[in-house]
Amino acid sequence: MKSKFSIYIHWPYCLSKCPYCDFNSHVSKEKIDQDQYSSLIKKELDHYCEVMNSKNISSIFFGGGTPSLMDPSVVYEILNHIEKKFKFDDKTEITLEANPTSVELDKFRHYSDFGINRVSIGVQSLNDIDLKKLGRNHTSKEAIRAIEIAHQYFNSISIDLIYSRPGQKINEWKAELLQALALGTHHISLYQLTIEPKTTYEKLFKSGKLILPNEELSRELYLLTESVCKDYSLFKYELSNFSKKGHESIHNLNYWNSGEWVGVGPGAHSRIENKDGERISIINEYDPRKWQEYVKMSGFSSIKKQNLSQENICDEYILMSMRTSKGMSVNKYTDLGGHLDKTKLKSLTAGGYIKVNKNTNYLQITSKGSIISDFIISELAL
Ligand SMILES: C[S@@+](CC[C@H](N)C(=O)[O-])C[C@H]1O[C@@H](n2cnc3c(N)ncnc32)[C@H](O)[C@@H]1O
Ligand code: SF4
Repeated sequence: MKSKFSIYIHWPYCLSKCPYCDFNSHVSKEKIDQDQYSSLIKKELDHYCEVMNSKNISSIFFGGGTPSLMDPSVVYEILNHIEKKFKFDDKTEITLEANPTSVELDKFRHYSDFGINRVSIGVQSLNDIDLKKLGRNHTSKEAIRAIEIAHQYFNSISIDLIYSRPGQKINEWKAELLQALALGTHHISLYQLTIEPKTTYEKLFKSGKLILPNEELSRELYLLTESVCKDYSLFKYELSNFSKKGHESIHNLNYWNSGEWVGVGPGAHSRIENKDGERISIINEYDPRKWQEYVKMSGFSSIKKQNLSQENICDEYILMSMRTSKGMSVNKYTDLGGHLDKTKLKSLTAGGYIKVNKNTNYLQITSKGSIISDFIISELAL
């Protein structure tokens, strides 16, 4: 049986730059040449088709930026090309990230006709004042409409929400979350507002004009989210992700379980096994213009390519898999050459922060441990 892998396609443009965001997203002054983008993505995919062994695809993800700015015909062409070059079927999860503005909603039907079966909507908040502060160019009403329309076309709907926002109160967050859950989404990605380097929010934060909730309140907001989601049968399967049974993101699980993926487009990353069986990490050129030039010239845009050592592979596996509720396979970690420090294991277990599932031999972070997960993971990985 052929092994499986995922494909990530990066669309690097947005209508405006949100003040908290440091993703590789750009506001283009010129009209975007979507046909050119499509042909270069196909060219970069062809490159990977040549360097990898033939494999089936388990998931495809159009991320951004704002991929819902893509013409549906471009999505169609790219998927059509992938189908010819690699193999996928009806079970392949095909996600597109969408911003909930009305212009983008008109395209949902076409995306669905062309094979998208999962949509990830950037709702962020259902509080209009906070949406403005986050620099979003949609209202809560538009976000709700987006979810309603998505129900008509997609089997699986995920929403992104940002919590731990300035001035956020427990009761208000509970009401907002309940409102979001009542809309019947199958999956929630919940991100704690983070101050990223070189963003407008960083300047505001440093000058004292933006004050975030303290650690204690952030924890309370997180724990509340976990219990409210559970009441709606959305279970935590990764530290920031909650899902109804059967709606866990196949694409993200592949990242967390150290699978293989090809990333095309500006700034996309890849982890692939080459024809000699070596695991390679690749980072593409970030700047959309330079990316175009590189792909035109040589068919690919990598600016960093590294053969991963066994130690690198072990580190990535523990760092990513310990974020999932299933945890890390101790057998797999050991087979990769990893060593767990017995003293640290003993003390974290005695404190109730981690446990080993005796049936599966997976090491897991407990509910108590989840609020200090970064500390636990760094303790175990070092
Ligand atoms: C690639 S971005 C978003 C896709 C889409 N353009 C949007 O904005 O809805 C993925 C998610 O990361 C989250 N995010 C980005 N920057 C963040 C930050 N500084 N703190 C917390 N969450 C952030 C947002 O929830 C966003 O939906
Ligand atoms: S949060 Fe989304 S819409 Fe806002 S700048 Fe980042 S990628 Fe673009």
